[in-house]
Amino acid sequence: MQQRHTENERNHAPQIWAVGGGKGGIGKSVLSILIAIALAEEGNDTVVIDADLGGANLHTFMGMRSPGRTLNDFLNRKCETLDDVCMGTEQKGLRIICGASEVLTLANLQYAQKIKILQAISRIKADHVVMDLGAGAGFNTLDFFLSADRQIVVMTPQPVAIQNAYAFVRNAVFRTLSRLASRRPALGELVQTAMDPTNGMQVKTVNTLLDQVAENGDPADAAVMAGHLKRIRPTLITNMAREPRDKNASQIIQVVSQKHLMIQTENGGGVYYDPKINAMVSAMEPLTRVDRDSHAVKSVSAIVSHLEKDKPRILRN
Ligand SMILES: Nc1ncnc2c1ncn2[C@@H]1O[C@H](COP(=O)(O)OP(=O)(O)OP(=O)(O)O)[C@@H](O)[C@H]1O
Ligand SMILES: [Mg+2]
Repeated sequence: MQQRHTENERNHAPQIWAVGGGKGGIGKSVLSILIAIALAEEGNDTVVIDADLGGANLHTFMGMRSPGRTLNDFLNRKCETLDDVCMGTEQKGLRIICGASEVLTLANLQYAQKIKILQAISRIKADHVVMDLGAGAGFNTLDFFLSADRQIVVMTPQPVAIQNAYAFVRNAVFRTLSRLASRRPALGELVQTAMDPTNGMQVKTVNTLLDQVAENGDPADAAVMAGHLKRIRPTLITNMAREPRDKNASQIIQVVSQKHLMIQTENGGGVYYDPKINAMVSAMEPLTRVDRDSHAVKSVSAIVSHLEKDKPRILRN
């Protein structure tokens, strides 16, 4: 399909996707690439970026052993923009930004570097940028996740993975609230208390927290917090599904997030386990060569076009 924009026509910021989820090995990198392929095949100029700060390995899913350019070349000012760091792939319309090999530098990313990368991502000349995030819910990972227009949380149908996905969403909520409260010690204390599951003050849910802020502090603060929570709208994708009912494994998270965290999550659907994908990854065969008739690939395409058509992107600050 024809690329949608030429260099001169494009004067808009890219739509940024973040693919995260607390647990390791659940398919964040595989889904990042499949989402990016689906976007590129729809005619979008797309960049997939390894934002796994501390465990960069996205290039191996493209069959690259040691990439010629990485994010570090941008951080070390060898390259001026992230477009300069992009490398082509076998998929038309899809470029990749490989992660830094100097793992510790990125894992301990300084605040200024994080802002520099986030700003540079929003200036990439593309229609879509897909960020593959690392495991865990460290502040850097959460900040990358929260900066995105589309926030994808990957999980698998196993109970522990569902718990991890919920914990990731909860951490994202409290990261947002803590950031808002960082300059107000009284608010900060309330947020800290609410995060502590053993707290004796009965601040068990975000609703109670906002009620307390309104009652004991400034109702305007509570309104600002509620406004920020509206911008957290994760789409949950259940990867490595084995049977149809697995596709609804995220429903429990929808219910609990609404009740306890005051946020709406949406069920993005499921992606089946495909042994051929696993074999390609093991053999370091580029995932751009994945069989387009694979059930998993078709599911990802359907999820992407559904999100693009029916769900408005989150408006960033
Ligand atoms: N839908 C799928 N079908 C078959 N295998 C899959 C699927 N999704 C992921 N895998 C396999 O699961 C393993 C982990 O996938 P991946 O590396 O994408 O996970 P991750 O969440 O990015 O892990 P990490 O947290 O370590 O970065 C890989 O071996 C990959 O081949
Ligand atoms: Mg990964």
